[in-house]
Amino acid sequence: MTELHRPNLAHDFHSAPIDADLRASIEGQALGIHRVADDDRTGTDRWLDAVSRGFLDPERGEKDYEAFFERAVYRRKLGVTDATGPDAAVPVATFGSWGADLTVPGGTTVPACAISSVTVAPTHRRRGLLRSIMAGELRTAAGLGFPLAVLTVSESSIYGRFGFAPAAHAAHWKIDTRRARWIGPEPEGRIDFVTREQGRELAPALHDRIRVTSPGEIDMPGGHWDRFFGTRPDAEKAGERRVAQYTSATGEVEGLVIYAVGHNHDDFTLSTVDVHLLLAATDAAYAALWRFVLSMDLIGTVTAGQLSLDEPLWWMIADQRAATITSRDHQYVRILDVPTALSARSYDVTDTVAFEVSDPFGIAEGVFVLSAGDEPGVDVVDEAPVGVPLVRLGVAELSALLLGGVSAVTLAKAGRLEADDPARIARVFGSTITPRLSFWY
Ligand SMILES: CC(C)(COP(=O)(O)OP(=O)(O)OC[C@H]1O[C@@H](n2cnc3c(N)ncnc32)[C@H](O)[C@@H]1OP(=O)(O)O)[C@@H](O)C(=O)NCCC(=O)NCCS
Repeated sequence: MTELHRPNLAHDFHSAPIDADLRASIEGQALGIHRVADDDRTGTDRWLDAVSRGFLDPERGEKDYEAFFERAVYRRKLGVTDATGPDAAVPVATFGSWGADLTVPGGTTVPACAISSVTVAPTHRRRGLLRSIMAGELRTAAGLGFPLAVLTVSESSIYGRFGFAPAAHAAHWKIDTRRARWIGPEPEGRIDFVTREQGRELAPALHDRIRVTSPGEIDMPGGHWDRFFGTRPDAEKAGERRVAQYTSATGEVEGLVIYAVGHNHDDFTLSTVDVHLLLAATDAAYAALWRFVLSMDLIGTVTAGQLSLDEPLWWMIADQRAATITSRDHQYVRILDVPTALSARSYDVTDTVAFEVSDPFGIAEGVFVLSAGDEPGVDVVDEAPVGVPLVRLGVAELSALLLGGVSAVTLAKAGRLEADDPARIARVFGSTITPRLSFWY
């Protein structure tokens, strides 16, 4: 088992050499692979061109290049190039990653290799580029000591084959404000509008306080705060965002909400509020901010995304059917180091279970015995001990269980794992807090 927070892990990963097998596989296709240097402005511009094209975005301009160059410096940026193409400076594949901190049940944060900006040009798709890069980068991340990798996805169908599973789901709410009727608490503190810049100042500390209370959250990646508040030079429609804060009766700012209004031109009283982010460090802030959002004049509908599947808000409105709630996969997790990942979280029951784990990349496979309880521990063994309940599963399924977002009984019924006693495994991995992730990255 490796030390959880090794100093310099994120730093070492950022500039680590490209995995030799990955390089050989790319060069075997007469392509090149490189890491874009942090001070390489031109290389970063071309990398952004490739990412934008890959995500169907329009061409970028000077303002975008400049802003991206500054805010994306924390990312390890890999590019695959095709020297035989007419515009060889723009990569045909991109892959971004950085060291993040994932909260697991019990409130511990675990270093996680976060992955984003994954694109392969339509001209070079389905010839194994993503598979090679993913395998190589996960080997590098695991080799340096990341126990986990995490990502959010454009399509659910891509990453399961690489050992990732949705471990925290997201709920999208559409609330009919006229029907909802507030029956929740009415806290004594006050709500005030603040400027986007003031909100931008407050948010990081609030979020750092909140994210450790919720399994599935990670620290906010660089540049994201300016995206939320529209405080970066390339922000679009920044002026549409409104920010309000909640201050407790004792004068402490405990939460804020960022939202934008959409007009209904046929009926002004049916305008909408789209909540971009609601940060609440206390129950009072949560109640006060949601009550504020749901009770505005002229607003007929409130929408909000990336909420928990188990929002207290549902119990704060008189008419639960005023809310139309849809859910989807959101935070994907991939265990790279089973002993470190499993022993980092807390368990509410004391029990011993064995796991036989398979891994498509061979990184995390083996047989493991988890001693769950106050001080969890994991042993690597050659074969499962007699008398200990055994679970046979893939690394994706184990990753899905890690945050407590799905029951082992459900996965067993779905044929996604084999267990002597799924209910016993479900009790071991249960979490009192439903995992969530409140943003995209
Ligand atoms: C998704 C994407 C990066 C895949 O790149 P690629 O180089 O074509 O993928 P690979 O050739 O390495 O495919 C590896 C495997 O994944 C499968 N796969 C790849 N993309 C898939 C997709 N979008 N849906 C389902 N399966 C997919 C392949 O069929 C292949 O399966 P196999 O191992 O069973 O043969 C590329 O299609 C892309 O850039 N899409 C648009 C941007 C995007 O959505 N990026 C992902 C952001 S989270």
